[in-house]
Amino acid sequence: MAKGVNSTFVYILGAMFMLSFVFVFEAMLTVFSRFYSDAIAKKLVHIERKTTRIISKQQEEKIITSNCNLFEGSWVIDDDAIHPLYNTTTCPFIRNIFDCTNRPDRQYLKYKWQPSACNLPRFDGRDVLRKYKGKQIMFIGDSLSLNNYESFLCLLYVSVPGMNYKTKLTNQSVTVIFEDYEVLVTLFNSLFLVDVEVEPNIGRVLKLNSIKNGEIWKQADVLIFNTWLWWTRGKPKQPWDYIEDGGKLVKDMNRITAFKRGLNTWVKWVETQVDPTKTKVFYQGEAGSHHHGEDWGEPGVKGCSNETRPVMGSIYPGGLPLAAQIVKKVLKKMRKKESIFLLDITILSHLRKDGHPANHNGYKGIDCTHFCLSGVPDTWNQLFYASLF
Ligand SMILES: *[C@@H]1O[C@H](CO)[C@@H](O)[C@H](O)[C@H]1NC(C)=O
Ligand SMILES: *[C@@H]1O[C@H](CO)[C@@H](O)[C@H](O)[C@H]1NC(C)=O
Ligand SMILES: *[C@@H]1O[C@H](CO)[C@@H](O)[C@H](O)[C@H]1NC(C)=O
Repeated sequence: MAKGVNSTFVYILGAMFMLSFVFVFEAMLTVFSRFYSDAIAKKLVHIERKTTRIISKQQEEKIITSNCNLFEGSWVIDDDAIHPLYNTTTCPFIRNIFDCTNRPDRQYLKYKWQPSACNLPRFDGRDVLRKYKGKQIMFIGDSLSLNNYESFLCLLYVSVPGMNYKTKLTNQSVTVIFEDYEVLVTLFNSLFLVDVEVEPNIGRVLKLNSIKNGEIWKQADVLIFNTWLWWTRGKPKQPWDYIEDGGKLVKDMNRITAFKRGLNTWVKWVETQVDPTKTKVFYQGEAGSHHHGEDWGEPGVKGCSNETRPVMGSIYPGGLPLAAQIVKKVLKKMRKKESIFLLDITILSHLRKDGHPANHNGYKGIDCTHFCLSGVPDTWNQLFYASLF
């Protein structure tokens, strides 16, 4: 018993410790991924600047049509002033790292995502709670899943004032149970989706062909996965010592190749292990960090600290990052394409260079990877909601 509690505590401490390195290694990671993405995405460089479009209530009522791509559009000032969708101080789930209450500029809270061909439905938390009564929704991935998860919890929480909830912890997950509706919302920590296991006399092994946690995941009714940030991290902070690739143990390998292998293993797992009549599967697209002004057409700018406005228009000058290109390619090759829905939030998140905590969350260092809550992840969840029903 004492041992169990102890290891839970150690695990949580470990998770927090790893999270803190997100900031430190962000810069390294970006340089690395830029190197690759620049080579591939050179052709995609266009700059389009539009002035902020103000949209009317009538437009708000436009109905979603089935051929509308919700992920293509631009950020506009919300003249109905329903953004932010909740006040940060009223949501008990937001961790300090995402809390931008002390940010002096407030403009970043006033934008809404406007798809080009239709409107995004409002997030209806009660609707989610009713339809998922007795069910479980699970977010699986790294700290960007945590970012998304906490936004989702807040959106549900504010939809029913005074709603009861309790929290359940295991060594790998946290679950919030909204008791009145018997809805379980879980975050399952998994940096790579594939396994990292400690092998006696070897060490920590990243196993590109193995997903043991899948047995737990597939019991849920909705799964939302994400992975990328940790694939390119090097020593001393990489959370593994060896990689197992097709039965062979190697000290290291091309990380992009490793990412592709891991992703393919995950796709195969979904195709063969998940019951599509019970469980819906989503992939949360790469969100994108902002470290180099030349990515958004302002060469010389370093980091996101001074950014208070999104990139206007619907095209991100830096193009689609490598990780997102790989995800799209892998998903396109699937045998059963309908079994995974891509929440294609990459470009819309890249446009929000103003959405990060930067140095406003009370932590040392500058976070240009995660997003403030309330903020951009609330839009991810509006899109998730629209895609779920
Ligand atoms: C959130 O609520 C607090 C306390 O009521 C208030 O001071 C703050 O201005 C609110 N923030 C926003 C963005 O409305
Ligand atoms: C977490 O707990 C499960 C079952 O309780 C156990 O099988 C697993 O090894 C534990 N994982 C870690 C990382 O401690
Ligand atoms: C932000 O702006 C201030 C004042 O103009 C400037 O001193 C600082 O270097 C800028 N910071 C970054 C990261 O560009």
